[in-house]
Amino acid sequence: MAKKKTSISLIGAGNVAYHLGLRFYEKGYPIQQVFSRKIRKAQKLSKKLNATATNQLRDIKPGSDIYIITVRDDAIVEVAKKLHPQVENALIVHTSGALSSKVLKPYSKNYGCFYPLQSFSINKTIDFEKLPVCIYSPQKKNRQKLYKLAQGICSNIYEINDQQKSVLHVAAVFVNNFTNHLYHIGQQITEDAAIDFAILKPLIRETMEKIEQHDPAEMQTGPAIRGDRETMEKHLQYLQKYPDWARLYRLISQGIAP
Ligand SMILES: NC(=O)c1ccc[n+]([C@@H]2O[C@H](COP(=O)([O-])OP(=O)(O)OC[C@H]3O[C@@H](n4cnc5c(N)ncnc54)[C@H](OP(=O)(O)O)[C@@H]3O)[C@@H](O)[C@H]2O)c1
Repeated sequence: MAKKKTSISLIGAGNVAYHLGLRFYEKGYPIQQVFSRKIRKAQKLSKKLNATATNQLRDIKPGSDIYIITVRDDAIVEVAKKLHPQVENALIVHTSGALSSKVLKPYSKNYGCFYPLQSFSINKTIDFEKLPVCIYSPQKKNRQKLYKLAQGICSNIYEINDQQKSVLHVAAVFVNNFTNHLYHIGQQITEDAAIDFAILKPLIRETMEKIEQHDPAEMQTGPAIRGDRETMEKHLQYLQKYPDWARLYRLISQGIAP
């Protein structure tokens, strides 16, 4: 007889809830409830997941195997506190890269993290085959449950403890948020000079493709690694009108210089 799939309630209806919810649903996991403070938002997602919607945490029903809290980091504890009476014995997890699983400890004896390491936006599809999911619970039986649940939606699963996860999150900010900010600066610089930013996109792609096969340090090119001081001086002169970016240019170049 086929084993019953883990039932899930989603607390939050933003980017992460949307993608995880759809993927779990597609893979046959019953989604019981979706919570958002805005009932229309909860309804919109719950309709896609054949779940019920609520905008009241006190109306979250007991009985789901797992409660996935996908609200913004600063609201996780406040939400877990309000859920506490209903979900006391259930497995509750949050999806934050920045917060320890321990923040949930006062609210259920079964707690953990289910952190999908990707940048989620509702209007952009996610390749779940490549998505790394980091799972953790201090309790072995819950780690096993989370591992199995992650296996149901992807094949790239890492057991990462709270300490490692907080370090991983620092690295993720560098490789994702900071590089994206640098793209933004590149866009401003080109557009201010009436150049189409699209001209830089093949270069961005090439750099990303290189790190699939090589150590990033070995692949570094540009004036700082070559020690082309005159070129760098020229760049800095041009950047005088953007003092913050000139400071960034200096700092990053110092890091790159051999
Ligand atoms: N986006 C990513 O790329 C990504 C990747 C990995 C992990 N995460 C983590 O996943 C979690 C959710 O991120 P997200 O991008 O899905 O966020 P999001 O799209 O901004 O959605 C956040 C959700 O939190 C709810 N919320 C905010 N403040 C609340 C409060 N005081 N009480 C109750 N609900 C509240 C919002 O409620 P309403 O619906 O009522 O507005 C919304 O449903 C965060 O912990 C984040 O660190 C995000």
